[in-house]
Amino acid sequence: MINKEAILAALLGKSFGRNVIIFETIDSTNTYSKSLDKNSAPHGTVVIAEEQTSGRGRLQREWVAAKGMNLLFSVILYPEFNVEKIALLPLIGSLAVADAIDKVTGLSSTCKWPNDVLINQKKVCGMLLESSSGESGIEKIVLGIGVNVNQQEFPRDLLTKATSLRNECGRTIDRTILVSIILEELENRYEQLSHFSPQQLLQEWKLKALLFGKKITVLESQSSYAATAIDIADDGGLIIQTEDGSKRKIFAGDVRLAYN
Ligand code: BTN
Repeated sequence: MINKEAILAALLGKSFGRNVIIFETIDSTNTYSKSLDKNSAPHGTVVIAEEQTSGRGRLQREWVAAKGMNLLFSVILYPEFNVEKIALLPLIGSLAVADAIDKVTGLSSTCKWPNDVLINQKKVCGMLLESSSGESGIEKIVLGIGVNVNQQEFPRDLLTKATSLRNECGRTIDRTILVSIILEELENRYEQLSHFSPQQLLQEWKLKALLFGKKITVLESQSSYAATAIDIADDGGLIIQTEDGSKRKIFAGDVRLAYN
């Protein structure tokens, strides 16, 4: 089981993970995190579960993960920067997780817009960002992160789409070390986003991205269409070119590499 004291001992950052709440089983770490107020769960609080009974993914999907083998956690954020920077949180999240995975496993992970992390073109990590607003706009963000760590078996329909760190690097990964390094990377990237213009971050994200120049399928709630991924805009949107040659920027939805 993931151990609070071990995480605290391994952490190098100053706020992310300094307050950790761990559950053996919970419906969803995101749902629980959203219910907490700022006094009991200040900026940087982390809620971790060994198992979720109603884990939630993006686009109303569910997130299913075997008990005790993966990382299922949410980070509670009270951003003090503007809404343009808040839109870049998915990118810093995926960059932080990708860098942490590479450090711990020696593998080369890639980022897939908006916030997935892939290894050998299969998904190892997904993120669900949920916000709540007050009088002055967005106040609180819950950044939910699911990493497939030591799970070896996947449902048949996910076999070509999902993988785990264990399956890719052939050894069991220490989840406490991994979550500590993810939190450290995340805090560093968050500070970078807070204090500097986002150009450097976007540049670094692009270096780990695999979509650009590739044919993709854009999946919307009721339909899908073919396009080519061109670039990432300064506001975090994905610039695509559709088959009639016109360019547009998308902010939500999901994309799939055309051959996937
Ligand atoms: C996706 O790729 O669709 C996003 C998956 C996000 C899953 C994580 S697991 C921890 C947190 N709690 C949830 O219910 N969801 C997120």
